[in-house]
Amino acid sequence: MDKILVRGGNPLIGSIPISGAKNATLPALAASLLTAEKVHLSGIPHLRDVTTMLELLGQHGASITIDERLGVEIDCSGINNTCAPYNLVRTMRASILVMGPLVARFGEAEISLPGGCAIGSRPVDLHLRGLEAMGAKIELGGGYIRATASRLHGARIVFDLVTVTGTENLMMAATLANGRTILENAACEPEVVDLANCLNSMGAHVEGAGTSTITIHGVDKLTGGQHRILPDRIETATFMVAAALTNGDVTLTDTDPSLLHSPIAKLREAGVEIDMGQDTITVRGPEKLKAVSLKTFPYPGFPTDLQAQMMVLMSLSEGAGTVTETIFENRFMHVSELQRLGADITVRGNSAMVMGKPKLVGAPVMATDLRASACLVLAGLAAEGETIISRVYHIDRGYERIEEKLLALGADIQRISG
Ligand code: UD1
Repeated sequence: MDKILVRGGNPLIGSIPISGAKNATLPALAASLLTAEKVHLSGIPHLRDVTTMLELLGQHGASITIDERLGVEIDCSGINNTCAPYNLVRTMRASILVMGPLVARFGEAEISLPGGCAIGSRPVDLHLRGLEAMGAKIELGGGYIRATASRLHGARIVFDLVTVTGTENLMMAATLANGRTILENAACEPEVVDLANCLNSMGAHVEGAGTSTITIHGVDKLTGGQHRILPDRIETATFMVAAALTNGDVTLTDTDPSLLHSPIAKLREAGVEIDMGQDTITVRGPEKLKAVSLKTFPYPGFPTDLQAQMMVLMSLSEGAGTVTETIFENRFMHVSELQRLGADITVRGNSAMVMGKPKLVGAPVMATDLRASACLVLAGLAAEGETIISRVYHIDRGYERIEEKLLALGADIQRISG
């Protein structure tokens, strides 16, 4: 298994491009199952999760062409298998996103139940209840969810809590349902808006994405479509924290500052200097970082996917701050690893109290999930001496060439294959 070796202390300086968003790419790929015509997606990031979704589409019978400029053309005219098997779903929970499109277009889907997960139990009950409200019959057995329907019908669905992939799954299913579907308490994440734009390019009628009420007028058939994936706001913010931590001066290009209000406000509160252009963000780290506190919320609140990275910044700030996680239980797996680098963090329930220290010191650490592994790389960049991060396969699920991008900014970082 690969490891990443970081020798800390170099300020990051320079400019790097941001990739397309993983969390927008996965649903857009799943959406191609809704039509027998070709869907062309551009700005696709080269990530393990994206490869897994392409494999899943391939085993459903899709034919996929990838061009040299990270464009993908998916042809789902020959789908011959509506089962998402255990070996793929267990490596990526977002595989559940094929369920809505498959039931809507083929009247059946059999999906391996997404199992336990390092960051909490993460059930899919809201996806299932929504499909049931649209007329699907749901059966569970042998570790699989089986959903069947002759044709889905429109429904008014109020989510008990905000779910991103739940909103996306039902939004996709509703595009081919008979009649109008209204999703209330829907997720407002930019990736949901991006999916709505992709679906509308395929002839769907989705209105209100980006607000908590989304209306979908079902159609009999969707056509082919073309869509460019929006920039990855979590990758952008991860590099912003890296620049801030290392007293660096970094410009991120090909991004969208308007998606990052809450992280930008928090970083400014910590004393970080940030300038925004149309599609660029320049970040200058201060001599001394100020302590901040934060609480994760659905968009436009502070993203849970950025909580671990911010905890590194707080570990090196002057003063004390608190991180409160409201989206996922058990999302503090990175704390014990940061403590190995000398961070002073105390966890009580869903809050972590962080006492800033003047420095962290490198040590061997282990990545436990995607964002936790990014936080350990950031900690290594700022720590004194060597940090070796093992189990970095997690990071390849969601960050495109992270060590190459950091190397380009002057970090002393290398991947050790093994
Ligand atoms: C998506 C993102 C992930 C991000 C998360 C929260 C993708 C591929 N992944 O994950 O990066 O961390 O949003 O912003 O877009 N829940 C239920 N029942 C359900 C569905 C969800 O109880 O049927 C709960 C979850 O356990 C969690 C909360 O709802 O506590 C939010 O989860 P959700 O928004 O669904 O996360 P994902 O869509 O899996």
